[in-house]
Amino acid sequence: MKLWGGRFIEKESSLMEDFNSSLSFDKRLYYEDIMGSIAHVKMLAKCSILTNKECDTIVNGLNSILSDIQDGKLKIEGDYEDIHSFMEIQLTKLVGDVGKKLHTARSRNDQVAVDMRLYSKHKAKEVIENLGVILCTIKKLGNDNAVIMPGYTHLQRAQPVTFKQHIMAYYNMLSRDVKRLISAIDIMDENPLGCCALAGTTYDTDRDFTTRELGFKKPVDNFMDGVSDRDYLLELLSCFSIIMMHLSRLSEELILWSSKEFNFIEISDEYSTGSSIMPQKRNPDAAELIRGKTGRVYGDLMSLLTTMKGIPLAYNKDMQEDKEPFFDGAFTVLKSIKIMNGMLSSLKIKKDNMYNAVKTGFLNATEAADYLVNKGLAFRDAHGVIGAIVLHCEKQHKAIESLTLEELKSFSDLFAQDVYEFIDYENTLSRGIKKEMK
Ligand code: ARG
Repeated sequence: MKLWGGRFIEKESSLMEDFNSSLSFDKRLYYEDIMGSIAHVKMLAKCSILTNKECDTIVNGLNSILSDIQDGKLKIEGDYEDIHSFMEIQLTKLVGDVGKKLHTARSRNDQVAVDMRLYSKHKAKEVIENLGVILCTIKKLGNDNAVIMPGYTHLQRAQPVTFKQHIMAYYNMLSRDVKRLISAIDIMDENPLGCCALAGTTYDTDRDFTTRELGFKKPVDNFMDGVSDRDYLLELLSCFSIIMMHLSRLSEELILWSSKEFNFIEISDEYSTGSSIMPQKRNPDAAELIRGKTGRVYGDLMSLLTTMKGIPLAYNKDMQEDKEPFFDGAFTVLKSIKIMNGMLSSLKIKKDNMYNAVKTGFLNATEAADYLVNKGLAFRDAHGVIGAIVLHCEKQHKAIESLTLEELKSFSDLFAQDVYEFIDYENTLSRGIKKEMK
């Protein structure tokens, strides 16, 4: 069933019909399609292009289609080219010939453009809400666990930090993601309805009316751009990719920390899985899947970037390929945030193991060098002295603070009793954090 056909003599090949159809995936746009059509029809009545009676009949018909879909009475399936054809044909079946007036002064090009703007704006807001939830979880997890742990560079123990400091780094990353999405929504918040196929319409329509009805900030400035712009999907997919990258880095840490080698955390049973052969296993599958799905969202972004790069103005059918990557990217990021939130809410922190790792890792070596600098030694020379002490300690299986003052003095005369307080882990940590919080 098609909306066109007048100028054709031969029947379309069934292979082509199947290749061309987008209904199996653009059916997700049913709500936005109906909202866009209702706004359009009200505008046509306001501009006296349709009568008020015709408008009411069409609006009532569209609303009843909407509730039938929502109640499961009407299934979006069958031999239709796309969701737009499905809706118009259903409407005409329901209200008769007046349904055929719905598409006056409109093209599927501006129709699909408005549907995708509404849908993607809504999804972006859903992602922001879910980020808000995980941000609260992270803050609570940090506040409940201001415990000392090793900080790493090159995955080698570097200096003491707290778990709170570490996890709050992710708080900052995800807060930037919220700002990025807000900015993307602000840029995309323009109404393409009224651009028609590419050059507008000769009817005296009112784009400001549909803009207000659909909650956009303003109508688009240029019709050709309005129907062929998919930048907003690319920008959102790029925001989703960055979010996934952040979640993937956190996943990698959760995977490492939950291994017996680190043994810093325990991921709850709810978010772990077992092995079919090795009875002792607790696998961090949730974190691994988030890390894995990150590649998938990057793929969605690359797919759409590649689709768009060679398209001349204005609308071309290539653009139908925007939907599956965007839907996939949005669902994947939403699910990943929810799973990460669940994992973090039920995470067990093994603070004694974290503290032991600090004690055995020479994590106060930098502070020991700073101590000598405070006593007048140049930092590079202090670095050399402490390096020699670390070498000595490694051979003796000792920590710097467990050497006697005499032993320390054999490396430098500048050491005195106050060194022990200066290189105490808690003390070095609180001196460092004080600056961070400023
Ligand atoms: N299914 C199409 C898409 O997703 C709708 C627009 C069709 N426009 C057209 N001129 N054939 O892009």
